[in-house]
Amino acid sequence: MLKPGGSAASSPLIGGSEEPTLIEMSVAGRRAWSLPALDVPEVVLDLPEQAKSSVALPEVSEHDLVMHYTRLSHRNFSVDLGAYPLGSCTMKYNPKVCDWAAEHPAFRDLHPATPEESAQGALAVLLEAERFLCEITGMERATFQPPAGASGELTGLLIMRAYHEDKGETRTKILIPDAAHGTNPASVTIGGYETIEVPSNDRGMVDVDALRERLDDQVAGLMLTNPNTLGLFEADILEIADAVHEAGGLVYYDGANLNAIMGIAKPGLMGFDIVHSNLHKTFATPHGGGGPGAGPVAVHDQLVPFLPGPLPEVDADGIIRWVTPEKSIGRVHGKHGNFGVVLRALAYMMALGGDGLRRVSERAVLNARYLEELLRGPYDLPYDSPCMHEFVASARTLKKDTGTRAMDIVKALMDEGFHAPTVYFPLIVEEALMIEPTETQSLQTMDALAGALLSIAGTARTDPDALHAAPVRTPVGRPDEASAARNLRVSWGGDE
Ligand SMILES: Cc1ncc(COP(=O)(O)O)c(C=O)c1O
Repeated sequence: MLKPGGSAASSPLIGGSEEPTLIEMSVAGRRAWSLPALDVPEVVLDLPEQAKSSVALPEVSEHDLVMHYTRLSHRNFSVDLGAYPLGSCTMKYNPKVCDWAAEHPAFRDLHPATPEESAQGALAVLLEAERFLCEITGMERATFQPPAGASGELTGLLIMRAYHEDKGETRTKILIPDAAHGTNPASVTIGGYETIEVPSNDRGMVDVDALRERLDDQVAGLMLTNPNTLGLFEADILEIADAVHEAGGLVYYDGANLNAIMGIAKPGLMGFDIVHSNLHKTFATPHGGGGPGAGPVAVHDQLVPFLPGPLPEVDADGIIRWVTPEKSIGRVHGKHGNFGVVLRALAYMMALGGDGLRRVSERAVLNARYLEELLRGPYDLPYDSPCMHEFVASARTLKKDTGTRAMDIVKALMDEGFHAPTVYFPLIVEEALMIEPTETQSLQTMDALAGALLSIAGTARTDPDALHAAPVRTPVGRPDEASAARNLRVSWGGDE
């Protein structure tokens, strides 16, 4: 294997099916940049010894660099390439007008520390996006500081703690349904609370009796997503919220599934006190790829004094100022959050308007229900009540009859040109396939997706070994995921 700085001119990899890394493409002396001639006096910097030694970085031409990243991009699947039914992630098409808004130089070139007077446009964007979000969620005020859903969860839990402590109470427990997303218990632990699990009933919803048994004066609150991770609307939500409130707790809405209910049901009217939304799902920024995202947290009026600060507020002269709420939990972000993501969300919300956002949710639910019906029979539907924007199917019977697992099915689906659904989540469903088509897939794409899944179920019964070998048409087949996760190689040229 070539080492940093070595020549790749004779690399057998170039032009072959295996693509070389930048290090393997390196040829001493090549450059991907050129600088104008020096027209100021040269200064020799007094650098420490370590800074004088050269670093073995790849030396490549601009063309090599562009080819490398273009080739890599062609190996990726993306929402702009095809259907991406990755349950719980809302991988929908994001209108390009949102990119235009986020790239606008007037916003893009603004430094986060710009004085208020010179940043009135950006502050107005935050206020307007907040107004939309509070209208959609039925809340009073919101912060855009949290840069992800999980960070919104932690922020919400810290607000809960501050609220209880302000009343002179120390509460130690948070209730979470057994179907919850993994970030919920993780946030609870980081927030210094103990997680108490609440079982689901045979309808796939929170077991209200079991919830009541767990409520006491140590419970700070309940975290819930509605529709839940099985794609089902928690029909007993009002009773659930009342029970938690009677015990002195607060109810937190994990708004990662907001795409199902916009303009139809407001979390604030369901009894929730704190809501986070994943702008990088519902509002025009793709989820995944490591960010950036935005998990704004909105709260009821009684919790506004505890919000992270500062928040934009219009003063008596009509100037928008940064104001820190009276009992604020402090900052949860170095600056004001991922502003570009907020811009994209505002562009999306303004382009669609209230009616348009409602249609998004209606169509998301319709698509999921249509697909669920098409798969009925060849796939198990363990919680068979009308789904919302996603549903959880199961390959339990296929596994029992043919040895075909959920993993085999989704790998084979990739050969058909679709992204895989989420698998093995929620944990309470055996061989789970969590499918979220989103509103942006056409009827034709939905039929093609269903056709591919049905054909795979047919192959499972006639030639299951063909599925164990899938995928065979993707740039990468089946990596050893466990080894990749446990034996990380984070630098090139290390031990094999
Ligand atoms: C139900 C649910 N809650 C919370 C999260 C966490 O959001 P994030 O990935 O932005 O931290 C997700 C993410 O997929 C989710 O699906």
